[in-house]
Amino acid sequence: MFHVIKEFDLATVHEGLVIGLLDKPEKFSGSLAKLDTQFNGQLTELVKSGDISAKLKSISKVHSFGKIGSKRIWFVGLGKEKDLTFDKLKESFGKLFKDVKASKLEETAIYLDSFVTEKLDGLDAAHALSEAFALATYQFEGYKQKSNEPERKLENLTVYSEAFVAEDVQVSLTVGNVFGQGTNSARTLVNIPGNLLTATDMANYAVNLASRYEFEVEILDKTEIEKLGMGAFLAVNQGSTEPPKMIVLKYQGRDEWTDVIGLVGKGITFDTGGYSIKTKAGIVGMKTDMGGAAAVLGAMEIIGETRPEQNVVAVIPSTDNMISGNAFKPDDVITSMSGKTIEVLNTDAEGRLVLADAVTYAKHHGAEYLVDIATLTGGVITALGLHTTGAMTNHEFLYEQVLEASMEAGEQMWQLPLFESEKERVRNSKVADLNNSPGSEGHAIVAGAFIGEFAEGTPWVHLDIAGTATTSKAYDLGPAGATGVMTRTLALFVERFEPIEK
Ligand code: BES
Ligand code: MN
Ligand code: ZN
Repeated sequence: MFHVIKEFDLATVHEGLVIGLLDKPEKFSGSLAKLDTQFNGQLTELVKSGDISAKLKSISKVHSFGKIGSKRIWFVGLGKEKDLTFDKLKESFGKLFKDVKASKLEETAIYLDSFVTEKLDGLDAAHALSEAFALATYQFEGYKQKSNEPERKLENLTVYSEAFVAEDVQVSLTVGNVFGQGTNSARTLVNIPGNLLTATDMANYAVNLASRYEFEVEILDKTEIEKLGMGAFLAVNQGSTEPPKMIVLKYQGRDEWTDVIGLVGKGITFDTGGYSIKTKAGIVGMKTDMGGAAAVLGAMEIIGETRPEQNVVAVIPSTDNMISGNAFKPDDVITSMSGKTIEVLNTDAEGRLVLADAVTYAKHHGAEYLVDIATLTGGVITALGLHTTGAMTNHEFLYEQVLEASMEAGEQMWQLPLFESEKERVRNSKVADLNNSPGSEGHAIVAGAFIGEFAEGTPWVHLDIAGTATTSKAYDLGPAGATGVMTRTLALFVERFEPIEK
C-alpha cells in the first residue's frame, strides 16, 4: 500500500504527484525548485496569479504536459506555517484524498517533505497522511444490488521523503493506518442495521477479534447473565426474542493483572424505547445505539495491533430494547448485579441500566479504572451540539488523561458537572435505591450520575457520544453516517495511560 522512497526522481511515472504548499514567500526550494525549473518557472507564476493556492485546504490540480513523469500534480494549500496543526494537516489530507478518490486514480505519489513545518516533522506528516487516507476514503459497502464499492480504488501510494529515515516514515504510516482502520471498523459496526447486527452477531465479531489478536474472550449467555444476577441488563432484554450477550475481552500487556483499565461500551443494537416508546421520527437511526460498543471494539483492534504495555478489560452489554408481552415496564423495580435496586420510570433510559451491570462486571474482572462510552442521551446534544462528546467523571486526574488523549486524537470533548444535587435526584425513589429517569432537566447529567452510582469509588470517566457517533453530513475525514468517534481517543488513552497513585 505505502512505499517509502528516499530518491525523489521527477522522471518516475505516476498517475498523480501530491505537493504541499505552505503560504510563505519562498514557495519552491530544494527538489521543488527543480520541479519548477522543469516547468520553466511557470509554477511560480501560477502561484503568483492565484491559480495554485496556498490557502488552507485548497486543492489545485495542474496537468504536467509531459514535463515530468507524473501525469498531474495536486497542490494542497496548507496556509500559514505557524497556524498549521496536526488536525488541520489531517483534514487537508482528507480533503485531498476525497478528491483523488473521486478522480478514480489507482496510484499516486506524494512528496512528504513538502508537508513538514517547524512543529510537524516527517513522522507526524506520515501519520496524518495514512490516518487521513483511511478515514477519508472510507465507504460503507451497503446492500445495494449494484455495490457502493467503486470499480477503481486508490491502492498504491508512493511516499517520497529525502529528509527522513524511510523505516521511521514507514512505521508512522503503519500506525496512522492502524488508527484509521480501527475507526473504520467501528464505523462499519455502527452502520450495519439492527437486523444484521444482533447481540449474537456482535459477540461473534468480538470472538473473531479475540482470535486475531490473542485476547482472552468471555461471552456470557442469558443463563450465565441470570446466574450473576444482572437484573438491570436482563430487564432491557426482557421484551426481545434475541438473547442478550455480555461480551468481555481481555488484553494483558503487563506481567501482572494490575492497574487494569475497564472500557465499557453501550451495545444496544436497536433502541425502540420500549414501552416508553420513541416517536415515529425519533426511532429512525436507533441501529446506531451501539456506538459505544463499536468504539470499544475499534479501540481494542488498535490495541491488538500496537500492543501497548497496559492491561485492558473491555465489557460490552449487548441486546436490543424491544416491546412484547414480556417487556419490562415503567414502575417495575429491578435488582442490579451490585445489589442496588432500581425503580424504572422510563424504559427508554435503558442505556444506563445495561451499563450499570456492565460497570459492576468490569470491576469483577479487576478493572481499577473505568471509562464507559455510550450513545446515552438526547440531552447531551441539547447541551453540547453535534460535534462535542460530553464527559463526566468522579476523578479529575483520570479525566485529564482521557481529555489529553482526545486532544491528541483531534476529537472534541467537554466536561459536564456531577454535583450532589443531581446525584440526589437519581437516588430519589420511594420504593428502590435509585430511579432511572428523574426528569428531563439536565438529563445528560443525571444519566451520568446514575452510572456513577455503580462506579462507586473506582476512578471513572463517562463519555456520552449521542451527538457525535453519527453525522448527517460528509466531512473532510469521512462520509455521512457513523463517525467512529472516540475509537482513537480510547486507544490513545490506553497507550499513554499512567496509573494513579492510590
Ligand atoms: N439511545 C438513546 C439516546 C440517543 C438519542 C442516542 C438520540 C442518539 C440520538 C437513549 O437510550 C435514550 O433514549 N435516551 C433518552 C433518555 C430519556 C428517556 C431520559 C433521551 O435522550 O431522550
Ligand atoms: Mn433509549
Ligand atoms: Zn438507547
